[in-house]
Amino acid sequence: MSLKFIVLSDLHLLPDGETNFGVDTTARLETAIATINARHSDADYVVLAGDLADRGERVAYEKLYSLLKQLSVPCHVTIGNHDHRPTYLEIFGAGEATNTGYIDKVIDQGGYRVILMDSAEEGTHSGRLADSQLIWLADRLDEAEDKPVIVVLHHHANPLRTAVDDIILENGADFAEVLMRHGDVRQVIAGHVHYTSTALWRGIPFTTLADGTYSVTIPLGPVEPERLEGPGQMAVVLADEDGTLVHFDNYFDNHQILTEPA
Ligand SMILES: [Fe+2]
Repeated sequence: MSLKFIVLSDLHLLPDGETNFGVDTTARLETAIATINARHSDADYVVLAGDLADRGERVAYEKLYSLLKQLSVPCHVTIGNHDHRPTYLEIFGAGEATNTGYIDKVIDQGGYRVILMDSAEEGTHSGRLADSQLIWLADRLDEAEDKPVIVVLHHHANPLRTAVDDIILENGADFAEVLMRHGDVRQVIAGHVHYTSTALWRGIPFTTLADGTYSVTIPLGPVEPERLEGPGQMAVVLADEDGTLVHFDNYFDNHQILTEPA
């Protein structure tokens, strides 16, 4: 049993010539892809955890579809609050959705079951899993039997006790209750909040990764968060029988390599 996969989130792609708070999100994704090909060509696959397109535009999904061809490992995708489900499905194909109409997926590889959940809810930046999705998830968990499970979705389900809880997964408690029926959920990984966190909530480990574009200073005090140009972060999940581990690999502002003074 052995699995390695990469999670990228919050690409916020825009039409050529536009930037997201000054960040060229296309160039940033190209750097991420080059980094994966250089450092992680041994990964089993890549997962994109939503907010693929900043305004859900067709041209952004076309660009993503085309850029992903440069990846040397397979890629599995779900969407976030900035995305537009029908446009995504037009470009990536109707087969990306389950019979509930949502972009939920199961990947059985390396002895693990990884489940992607589409948490986008129309008209709001908060997230929600529909009742039909929770039923679908319960069935997929039951099917997994003794196989350990990792879930990836865009929205954070566990309260982070900062301002980002205004745009949390609204029915996180229902989600956690479904997850608990399995008994061996090793990680729930989300993007959305543009900063890194880990938590144990309701007996399940939850992680957020920072962005594929800008990150934010964590709003822990009464100070407004600031946007930061880096770090351009991916989560690298290493999983085997003994454990499940998440590294954070930054591909934008790597620290300068230090050398001994001459
Ligand atoms: Fe988001």
